[in-house]
Amino acid sequence: MLRATLASPLLLLGLVASAVHLPVVPPSQEVLEPSGARKDATVLILGGGVAGVTAARTLHEQGIDDFILVEARGELGGRLMSHSFGVPSRKFTVELGANWVQGTQTGNGAENPIWTLAKKHNVTTRSSEYFGSISTYDDSGAFDFRDIFDASVEDFHKLVASAGGRVPKRLVDMSARGGYSLTGSHPESKHQMASEYYQFDWEFGTTPEETSWLASSWAHNYTFDPASGGFSYENLLSVDQRGFKTLIQAEARESLKPAQVRLNSTVSEISSSKHGVKVTLTDGHVLRADYALCTFSLGVLQHSDVKFVPPLPAWKREAIHSMSMGTYTKIFLQFPEKFWFDTEMALYADYERGRYPVWQSLDHPSFLPGSGILVVTVTGDFSKRIESLPDSYVQSEVMDVLQMMFPEVDVPEPTDFYFQRWHSDPLFRGSYSNWPAAFLSEHQGNLRANVDERLWFAGEATSRKYFGYLHGAYTEGEAIGQTLAECIQGGGCFGLEHIDRVQNARPYDII
Ligand SMILES: Cc1cc2nc3c(=O)[nH]c(=O)nc-3n(C[C@H](O)[C@H](O)[C@H](O)COP(=O)(O)OP(=O)(O)OC[C@H]3O[C@@H](n4cnc5c(N)ncnc54)[C@H](O)[C@@H]3O)c2cc1C
Ligand SMILES: *[C@@H]1O[C@H](CO)[C@@H](O)[C@H](O)[C@H]1NC(C)=O
Ligand SMILES: *[C@@H]1O[C@H](CO)[C@@H](O)[C@H](O)[C@H]1NC(C)=O
Ligand SMILES: *[C@@H]1O[C@H](CO)[C@@H](O)[C@H](O)[C@H]1NC(C)=O
Repeated sequence: MLRATLASPLLLLGLVASAVHLPVVPPSQEVLEPSGARKDATVLILGGGVAGVTAARTLHEQGIDDFILVEARGELGGRLMSHSFGVPSRKFTVELGANWVQGTQTGNGAENPIWTLAKKHNVTTRSSEYFGSISTYDDSGAFDFRDIFDASVEDFHKLVASAGGRVPKRLVDMSARGGYSLTGSHPESKHQMASEYYQFDWEFGTTPEETSWLASSWAHNYTFDPASGGFSYENLLSVDQRGFKTLIQAEARESLKPAQVRLNSTVSEISSSKHGVKVTLTDGHVLRADYALCTFSLGVLQHSDVKFVPPLPAWKREAIHSMSMGTYTKIFLQFPEKFWFDTEMALYADYERGRYPVWQSLDHPSFLPGSGILVVTVTGDFSKRIESLPDSYVQSEVMDVLQMMFPEVDVPEPTDFYFQRWHSDPLFRGSYSNWPAAFLSEHQGNLRANVDERLWFAGEATSRKYFGYLHGAYTEGEAIGQTLAECIQGGGCFGLEHIDRVQNARPYDII
C-alpha cells in the first residue's frame, strides 16, 4: 500500500514535509460556496488554548488577519485554568491545569518558549524542588524511605539511557514497564511502588504499562536534558495571582482584536468539502471559511464530542485512537493552619499503587505562605475513579490518609475542598496526551496531518518532541500556523504528508 502511494507523482510531492502548493484556483477567490453562502473568514481556529492562540498570532504575523478564533469557554487559556480557592478571608488563585514552566534554558541552549512568554509578561514563578525537598510517609506515619526513593531516581535514569538517543539502541518499542524490567527494576514493596510512581506516573499522567519506553525517554530528554537538546532540569511553579493563563491571555491581547475572538461558542459539527469548511455551533449558528484549524484535545477527538462531516478518514481515526489521554488530578484542601511537613513535597506509600501518593505544600515560604493550602495529586485510573465519586466521599478518603500520615495530629476539617474533573469534561476528556508503545511514528504523522486541503490539526498531542506539555501546544500552534499561512499565500496546497495504511513498525523515526 505504501509502495502504491509512492508511485503516484502527486503524492510523492506530498511527501515533502511542508506546504506543497497545488496549481488550483486560490481559495480566496472562492468567496461563494456553490450554495451561494458567504464566508465569514479565511480561517476558523477552533479552540482558544495555547495552540489556538499561538496559531492565531502566527497567522497575524504572516499578514493573515481574516480569521475567527472560536472558543467554548468564556475566556482564553484552555488547560491553563485558574481557580479562586479558599475561605473569603483567605482566597488564593490556584492552578487546576498546567502550573509549571517545565525546563527553562541552559546557557545559550534551546529556550522553552513558555519561559520566554512568562518572562515577557512578568508571570511570578518560583523554583520548585521535586527531588531535594521531600518527606516520606506510609500508613504508619512518617517513615524515612529516601534511600529507596533515590534508587528509583537512578532506575529512571537507567530506563531513559537504555532507550538510546538519535540512533535508538532498540529498533522496536516496548512499554516502559518492559523497559524497567529489562533494565533490572522490579518495584515490589509499597515504598518502591510509590517512589516509581513519583518518577513516572506523576509526570506522564499514565502508568509505565501504558506508556512507550522510547517516547517517554525522548520526551524526558527533549524537555529536561540539555545534553540532548532539552531546556533544563528546572521546574518553575507559577504563583501569579492573575493566574498562569496570564501568559497566553496577555499574548492574545497584543496580537488579536476582540472581533477576531468568539467566546462562549461551542462547536458541535465540523463539515468540510473541497470548497471550504462549515462549522456549526451548539446554538445552531453556522460559520463558513476556507480552512479550519482544530486544536481540541486528543480526548475530545476520541470521545466524538464534535461530529465531523464527512467522517474523518480511517487513517486519521486510527491515529487518534492509537494515542492515549492521561489524567492528572490535583485535589486542593485548605486548612485553618498548617500542621504538615516543612518540605515542598511529600510522598505517601499506600498498599495500593497510586492511592493519594503525591502531596504538595503551597503553604510554604516559596509559594503561598499563610494560605493553609495542601494539594494531593492522583492520576490515570485513580483519577477516573474519584471523578465518579461525590466530593464528600473523596474528601473523607483523603482525610483518612492524612490521619494515617499524621497519627499524632488531630487533623482538622478542611475549610475548602476542590478538584477539577478533567476526564469527564467534554471540553477536555483528560489532562494531556501520552504516547503508548503501540503508537508508531507513522501514526504520529497521521495525527498531525491535515485532512484534504481544508481541515488542519494542532495541539499538544500533535507534538512529536513535547507531547503533553505547554511548550508542545505552543510549538505546534506556531508550526502548523506557519504551514497553513504558506498554504493560503500560495493559493492552496496538499499540506502535510500522511500514510494511508500504517502497516508495520519501522525503526523509530526520532528527530
Ligand atoms: C491538570 C493538568 C496539569 C498540567 N500541568 C502542566 C505543567 O505543569 N506544565 C506543562 O507544560 N503542561 C502541563 N499540562 C499540559 C498543558 O496544560 C497542555 O499541554 C496545554 O495547555 C494544551 O494546550 P492546547 O492548546 O493543545 O489544548 P487546550 O488547552 O485543551 O485548548 C483547546 C481549547 O478548545 C476548547 N474546546 C474544546 N472543545 C470545544 C468545542 N466543542 N467547541 C469550542 N471549543 C472547544 C477548550 O475549551 C480549550 O480552550 C497540564 C495539563 C493539565 C490538565
Ligand atoms: C460568556 O458567558 C459568561 C457566562 O454566561 C458571561 O459572564 C460572559 O460575559 C460571556 N462572555 C462573552 C464574551 O460573551
Ligand atoms: C514587567 O516588569 C518590568 C520591570 O518591572 C517592566 O519594565 C515591564 O514593563 C513589565 N512588563 C509587563 C508586560 O508588565
Ligand atoms: C537521553 O539522554 C541521555 C543522557 O544525555 C542519553 O544517554 C540517552 O541515550 C537519551 N535517550 C533518549 C531516548 O534520547
